[in-house]
Amino acid sequence: MIRLPAGHRLLHLDRTDSTNAEANRQARAGAEHGLVVLADGQDAGRGRQGRAWLTAEGSLAFSLLRRPDIAPHLASLWSLLAGVAVVDGLRARCPDLWLKWPNDVQIGHRKVGGILCEWDQGALVVGIGLNLAPPAGGWPPELEHRAAALPPDVGSRDEVLSAVLEHFDALERVTVRVGAGPLMDRYRRCLAPMIGERVTVDGGAEPWAGRVDGVEDSGALVVVDDAGARRAVLAGDVHLLPAQEP
Ligand code: BTN
Repeated sequence: MIRLPAGHRLLHLDRTDSTNAEANRQARAGAEHGLVVLADGQDAGRGRQGRAWLTAEGSLAFSLLRRPDIAPHLASLWSLLAGVAVVDGLRARCPDLWLKWPNDVQIGHRKVGGILCEWDQGALVVGIGLNLAPPAGGWPPELEHRAAALPPDVGSRDEVLSAVLEHFDALERVTVRVGAGPLMDRYRRCLAPMIGERVTVDGGAEPWAGRVDGVEDSGALVVVDDAGARRAVLAGDVHLLPAQEP
């Protein structure tokens, strides 16, 4: 059974193109803060940077429609909030979860979930996909070494969804009430395995390499490049490089 926090409403579909697309349509039709769009299957799941998102049978794909009463510049933090809600919500059953900047849900070097936030007409749509099972035919070659499913100990799909919703709602309330401080403290803890690691940053004209130094309050990743310059990364992809032999 799915536990919905107070003020939430569930729209449960067998299939849809994308729960984000459906939540955007609902938002345009006037749906209120607290709508949860859950689909058992997605035909055109959307990922970050215009990529496709594969939802295997039995996996979790849902989107939250939010209309938070916040200054517009804080909205970009909602995608970090979603990442923290996933890691905190599932930590008791899956202590190895962490976030790779900005919000890839990871176990070790493998991605087990992703988050895509979209603004539409003043509404914020927060889409969360968590791999609860591998695809029936196995992972496609491009994901084979990079993706994984959460372990079965994490609980049923309904339990996972309920835990994430509860943590998202509680953390959102705190953030609306007191600002981004508590959220950023928790975000930095979820991201801790990246600090000090060597990465390549793929966001501008040329990819470049450096060492991760921290996260700014804006959510930007701070990377010290190989020439020693501190650079704030606001968008793009960051790849962890394997540790070098001394
Ligand atoms: C990423 O690329 O890491 C983000 C993936 C986000 C996938 C989820 S699944 C539910 C929601 N609906 C979508 O079409 N995308 C998001």
